Amino acid sequence: MSSIDTLTTPLGGPTLPQERRLVTSIPGPRSQQLLDRKAAAVAAGVGHTAPVHAVAAGGGVIVDADGNSLIDLGSGIAVTTIGNAHPKVVAAVQAQIAQFSHTCFMISPYESYVEVAEALNRITPGDHVKKSALFNSGAEAVENAIKIARKYTKKQAVVAFDHGYHGRTNLTMALTAKAMPYKSGFGPFASEIYRAPMSYPYRDGLTGAEAAKKAISIIEKQVGADNLAAVIIEPIQGEGGFIVPAEGFLPAVLDWCRANGVVFIADEIQTGFARTGAMFASDLFGIVPDLITTAKGIAGGLPLAAVTGRAEIMDASHAGGLGGTYGGNPVACAAALAAIDAFETEGLLERAREIEGVLTGRLSEIQIADPRVGDIRGHGAMIAAEFIDPETGDPDAALTAAVAKACIAQGVIVLTCGTYGNVIRFLPPLSIPDALLHEGLDVVAEALRAA
Ligand SMILES: Cc1ncc(COP(=O)(O)O)c(C=O)c1O
Repeated sequence: MSSIDTLTTPLGGPTLPQERRLVTSIPGPRSQQLLDRKAAAVAAGVGHTAPVHAVAAGGGVIVDADGNSLIDLGSGIAVTTIGNAHPKVVAAVQAQIAQFSHTCFMISPYESYVEVAEALNRITPGDHVKKSALFNSGAEAVENAIKIARKYTKKQAVVAFDHGYHGRTNLTMALTAKAMPYKSGFGPFASEIYRAPMSYPYRDGLTGAEAAKKAISIIEKQVGADNLAAVIIEPIQGEGGFIVPAEGFLPAVLDWCRANGVVFIADEIQTGFARTGAMFASDLFGIVPDLITTAKGIAGGLPLAAVTGRAEIMDASHAGGLGGTYGGNPVACAAALAAIDAFETEGLLERAREIEGVLTGRLSEIQIADPRVGDIRGHGAMIAAEFIDPETGDPDAALTAAVAKACIAQGVIVLTCGTYGNVIRFLPPLSIPDALLHEGLDVVAEALRAA
C-alpha cells in the first residue's frame, strides 16, 4: 500500500471518503435536472463527458449532487494534477482573495506574478536566461508564443503537426489538426499555418530519425526555412491520442530549427507539471525548447497559462504588445505558487511514475488477453490505450466510445481522445489512492470484456 492509500481530502469542510459509491444510476435525478437546465440555458456547442453535476472533488473522487462518488481518471483534462482543492492552493487562494482580487498587472504590477515568472524561468528546461508572460488559457498562451516568435524572427509561417491540438481560438484552430469537433464550420482559419507529419511509431513504423527526415523534407519543400518563424509541437500529443514520438524525433526537429533560425515551441499545456513523471515532457526527451507554453496543471485548477523562453526571444515584443486584462490574475498566481511548491516538495514526480507502473502493468495484462487493445503508451500519469479491430488493425472508435460510456455508468470517469476517436486516456490526479486506481481499472477491464 502506498502512503496515500488511506487519504481523505480536506475541502475546507468535511473530508471525502476515497471510494466509488453509486447510490443512483448515472445520471441520478438531481444531475438530470441540472442537465435539463444546461440544455435550456447553455450553448449546445459546450459539451460534457460525464452526465453528472459535481458538488465536491478531492483525492481521486468526484462527488455528484445525488451523492454518487465517481473515480476520477481525467483530472478535468489534466488540470488537477496535484489533486482537487489541494490544501495549499485553498489556503493561498483564500488569503489572496481577501487581500485583493485584481488590479491588472499592466496597470499596477504585484509580486506574485513576478514570483510565478521567476519560478517558471527556474523550473522549465534549460539553464539559459529566460523570461515569462502570463495569460488565462492554454490557447491564449499558444497565440502569444506564435506572436512572440513572429516578432523575433520577422517571419510569418508556422508549422504544426498531424494529430496536434493547440486550442479553440482562431489561430489555435488553424494549428489544430482534427476537423470534428474542433474546426468544422468555424473557418476561415488563420493563414500561414502548415502541417508536417508527426512521428507515430505504432502506425508509421518509422524510427525517430526517419520520421524527422520526412517531416523536415516536407517543411523545407513546402514552406522553406526562410519563411518559417516557428515549429510548434506537443512533446507527447494530448487530444491527438497520447502519441509518443519515436526516440530521436524531437531532438532532430529541434536541431534543424536551431540550424535554420526557426523558433522551436514546445506546447506542454497538457504534459507539463509532473504529469509525465518529469516536471516537463521535454526533460524526458532531453530537449531544451526555445519557448514553452504551459497551463492546465500550473495552478491546481485555477485559470492560468504562460509562455516561458529565451530572454532575447521573449523580449522581442514592444511594450504593450503582450498582455490582457486578466492575464496573471493575483488569485491564480497565488494558486500557482502553492501548486509549484507542491510539485517541488511533495514527491509528485515519483508519484506520477508510480502511477505509470500501475497503469501500464494493468493495461498490459488486459492487452495480453484482448487483441482489441492495439497499443499502450505514454509516460507517468498520462497513459493511453488505443483500440483496434484485430483483423485489420483499423481504429475502433465505436468500441472505444462503448467502453468509455460503460465506465462512466459504473462510476469511473475516463476520457477518450485520438484523431480516430479510438483512444482511452488515463489522466488521474496524482492524489488518487492506489486502491481506487486499481478499482477504476477493474471497471475498465470489465467494460471492455462486456463490449
Ligand atoms: C496541448 C494543448 N495545447 C493547448 C490547449 C488549449 O488549452 P485551453 O483549453 O486552456 O485553451 C490544450 C487543451 O487541451 C492542450 O492540450
